[in-house]
Amino acid sequence: MEVIIRPNKEIATELAANLIADMVIRKPTLILGLATGRTVEELYDKLAAKNLDFTFCSTFNLDEYIGIDPTDKNSYRYYMNKHLFEKININKKNTHLPDGMAKNTVESCKEYEKLICDHGGIDVQLLGIGRSGHIGFNEPLSALSSRTREKALTPTTVEQNSPLFDNPADMPKRALTMGVGTILEAKRIIMVVTGSEKAEILAKAVEGPITSMISATALQLHPACTIIVDEEAAEKLKEKEYYRWIFENEPEWRPYSAG
Ligand code: F6R
Repeated sequence: MEVIIRPNKEIATELAANLIADMVIRKPTLILGLATGRTVEELYDKLAAKNLDFTFCSTFNLDEYIGIDPTDKNSYRYYMNKHLFEKININKKNTHLPDGMAKNTVESCKEYEKLICDHGGIDVQLLGIGRSGHIGFNEPLSALSSRTREKALTPTTVEQNSPLFDNPADMPKRALTMGVGTILEAKRIIMVVTGSEKAEILAKAVEGPITSMISATALQLHPACTIIVDEEAAEKLKEKEYYRWIFENEPEWRPYSAG
């Protein structure tokens, strides 16, 4: 795991967008794992502004609320169309989200896993972290080997996301989400964390023991995971100086560290 500290959200999301852009350029058939949420909105704006060719790319989102139609503006399908898919030249047929309206969620989740597998797996998975420590909607006590499935959302997550609904009471309390095990199979992981409200959970996720109480700690097991954070989110990390040293000295970061 690597932790990269950038001065603010703008520069942190620009770095993440540059990393993903370089991957799309290197591999035009890139399979992207995508997240939704406030943290990645700015990243998608920056990625879309790069005018890349997404014709041959495919995407798989982490999660979707149960019982919310894809045309509903609170659905993650709507979010993705608005923030990314409608701004780039991706073929919508190549964009996938779990089906929150599925009658048989068990079968539908199995099919989602199979589809990822049929595409050869996810090349790069983008993540945010929830205040509960979730990645995707893997709430505390999600098995570290879990697969795509239905999950109940914790009160912390409902508190975090319900203000995004016109009527906060309309926020579903259940969702479909890739499992922790599914996420860990991505070839590369990039997590972006910004803002002081994430500082405490970030420190636990990066520097604390691996525990299913905080799903993000499972990222410590991944061989190619980069966590890009801003100074506010980095506030409670103990080894900040070491992380800064890595960014300044490791050759792989040289192309990105100027300025
Ligand atoms: C959303 C998702 C979540 C978010 C997390 C952070 O698809 O998978 O894990 O990444 O809840 O959300 P924000 O960025 O809104 O704080």
